[in-house]
Amino acid sequence: MSNPSLLILAGDGIGPEVMDEVKRIITWYGDKRDMPFDVSEDLVGGCAYDKHGTPLHDDTMARAQEVDAVLLGAVGGPKYDDLDFSLKPERGLLRLRKEMDLFSNLRPAQCFDALADFSSLKRDIVAGLDIMIVRELTSGVYFGEPRGIHTEGNERVGINTQRYTESEIARVARSAFELARRRGNKVCSMEKANVMESGVLWRQVVTEVHEKEYSDVELSHMYADNGAMQLVRNPKQFDVIVTDNLFGDLLSDAAAMLTGSLGMLPSASLGLPMANGRPKALYEPVHGSAPDIAGQGKANPIACILSFAMALRYSFDAGAEADRLEAAVETVLADGARTADLLGPEGGSPISTTQMGDRILAALDASL
Ligand code: NAD
Ligand code: IPM
Ligand code: MN
Repeated sequence: MSNPSLLILAGDGIGPEVMDEVKRIITWYGDKRDMPFDVSEDLVGGCAYDKHGTPLHDDTMARAQEVDAVLLGAVGGPKYDDLDFSLKPERGLLRLRKEMDLFSNLRPAQCFDALADFSSLKRDIVAGLDIMIVRELTSGVYFGEPRGIHTEGNERVGINTQRYTESEIARVARSAFELARRRGNKVCSMEKANVMESGVLWRQVVTEVHEKEYSDVELSHMYADNGAMQLVRNPKQFDVIVTDNLFGDLLSDAAAMLTGSLGMLPSASLGLPMANGRPKALYEPVHGSAPDIAGQGKANPIACILSFAMALRYSFDAGAEADRLEAAVETVLADGARTADLLGPEGGSPISTTQMGDRILAALDASL
């Protein structure tokens, strides 16, 4: 049998910096755990625009459809701010998500004990936190039609449309219920059914799927604005949160700060099973290209590394190896390894992106 295939799209800004550390970890799994991957690399985002005049070349799109999993760094940057909307780096990422039909975006927020004091919230609010935000990723206001900027009379009008079909809601709800069964068995669905018809339908469909297929799972509903407040007030009340594309984007960035830094949060974007039984999948950190620190060796590679751990778990049926990698991260944090974003107000001396990679590789070696 051939080795599992990975397509690496490191992208822009700190993307290539954090992905370099992941590449070393992939090599480690080949050398030390007899898990070789066939790795290929390509461009997405601003770097793809610079080379091809498009943020995602058709050949790259085709390759992404064929591989067992895509690993993505980050896209975007101020250099591309004035580009036509359709050419912006972010469009490359959105095209990957849409054409691979990656409807279920898993964004776990776990607070490592060593970082409980670094969150902007009090230790007892976040210590031991382990929640999973399931964000619908291929529909909603990100993709709804009509959209655009038009002129009406003598002024411009900007339009985006929130649109959800019941099958789109049902499939992401199912993936949240399935996950909940393997965790704390609780799902909280968030929308704004009080002001949006799409929210009314969301609540109805989630309730129907629950009644018919998952009545063993505890389900609650919350307006997303209250959900944002509850995430900060008492995040440990949640197990799995399921929500739409835009609310999920906002809520997951807020949840990142519960873990200490946006540089800690990984994600998995999953679609339907392929012929080999593996889901279509793309793994990426929740953070962006961080132009303010790009090129300085300061970026925290942990979100990208933990995204590879999610690939081990969700694409390669290697949950024990994912546990090993997560434990290695936990060990180095407990030993005090800190990139700049993980330093508390009292300061300290940060280590570089590469040094954090070195420490995690050493912890992996020590785990053997
Ligand atoms: P950002 O996530 O890039 O940065 C927000 C803040 O967090 C910055 O201060 C940054 O330095 C810090 N940060 C982020 N990741 C970090 C890490 N790994 N280590 C240390 N600090 C980190 O968000 P932004 O500044 O709003 O956006 C910058 C660009 O990235 C934009 O073009 C945006 O569209 C894009 N973006 C891309 C993705 C993606 O590729 N998935 C996600 C979010 C934003
Ligand atoms: C994310 C990002 C993306 C989004 C952008 C870069 C398209 O913010 O992955 O959270 O809005 O989904
Ligand atoms: Mn985001």
